[in-house]
Parts: sequence; structure tokens; C-alpha cells
Amino acid sequence: MEQTLVIVKPDGVQRGLVGAIISRLERRGLRLSALKLLQVDQARARKLYKIHLGKRFYETLVSYISSSPVAAMVWQGQGVIDIIRRTMGATDPAEAGPGTIRGDWGINIGRNLIHGSDSLESAEREIPIFFDSGEVVHYPRALDPWCSENEL
Ligand code: RTP
Ligand code: MG
Repeated sequence: MEQTLVIVKPDGVQRGLVGAIISRLERRGLRLSALKLLQVDQARARKLYKIHLGKRFYETLVSYISSSPVAAMVWQGQGVIDIIRRTMGATDPAEAGPGTIRGDWGINIGRNLIHGSDSLESAEREIPIFFDSGEVVHYPRALDPWCSENEL
């Protein structure tokens, strides 16, 4: 079962876009399997963004993600990682296409609303930073066969 970590970043929570973002992903047909609101501390932020250590935007990225609560989630579905990345749009909202979350609701790379794991390997590393295995719920939905002819 393919899974990915999604985070509605502090700007998304402050702007009241958590529901709208969840709704978009639900309407896509994907399955929500874990959800929590939390304040990210420095240690967790550094763990999440470890791959960006040393980049010029690293410190501002760590302070941005820990500046206010975030909504962290796990989503499941066949191809969920790429589907969500495409639904998010380009990293810089100024360049993200219309119809994407960042393209519709953002204007600045430092306030791009949402994080999504970028590969299977990233998802496997990132999900445990936010969720214990028992917090990720696996369940069938009656609508699953109407969203995909394959098992979600
Ligand atoms: P994310 O990890 O948040 O899903 O975003 P992403 O894959 O599209 O972008 P990534 O390259 O992983 O960068 C992580 C986050 O760092 C901030 N960033 N700022 N000022 C800059 O040039 C710059 N570049 C990246 C963004 O918040 C980006 O989402
Ligand atoms: Mg990334």
C-alpha cells in the first residue's frame, strides 16, 4: 500500500486552508489514513528537512515550519506520492499551474502551504517522524472501487 506524508504548513493552518486542502485530496479519491495537528519543534523540523542541511534556505525553512501549528497526515492510494505532488504544484507557487494547491492559493516560495513526500524512500523516512505505526489506520471504504479499478 503506497503511502505519503502530507503537511499543511503553518501558513495553511493560519489561513484556514486545512479543510480545503483535505477536501481536494479526498475528492481526488485518495484515502486519509492518519491526521494530527501539532506544533513542530526544532528537533523534529531539523529531522524532516535533514536533506536540505547546508542549503541557503535551510534555517529559514526550519523556523517557518516550526513557527505555528501544522496539520500532518498520511494519505494512501495507488500512485499517491506522484498524484499528490502534482496536485500540490511546483515548489514556487508563482510558477505552479492553476488548478494546483500552490498555484491557486500561494504566491511565494517561502509560504507554499503544503509538503508532500517526493519519493517512496522519502515517505518511508518521513512518516515515522510524525506518526507511530499504530496511528496509521488501514481501512476499506465503500467508494474505493468507484475511485480505482485496482485496490487502493
Ligand atoms: P516540500 O519538501 O515542502 O514538499 O517542497 P518541495 O519538495 O516542492 O521543495 P524542496 O526542494 O524539498 O524544498 C523544501 C521547502 O523549502 C522551501 N524552499 N525555499 N527560498 C528557496 O529557494 C527555497 N527553496 C525551497 C520551500 O518551502 C520548499 O517547500
Ligand atoms: Mg521536498
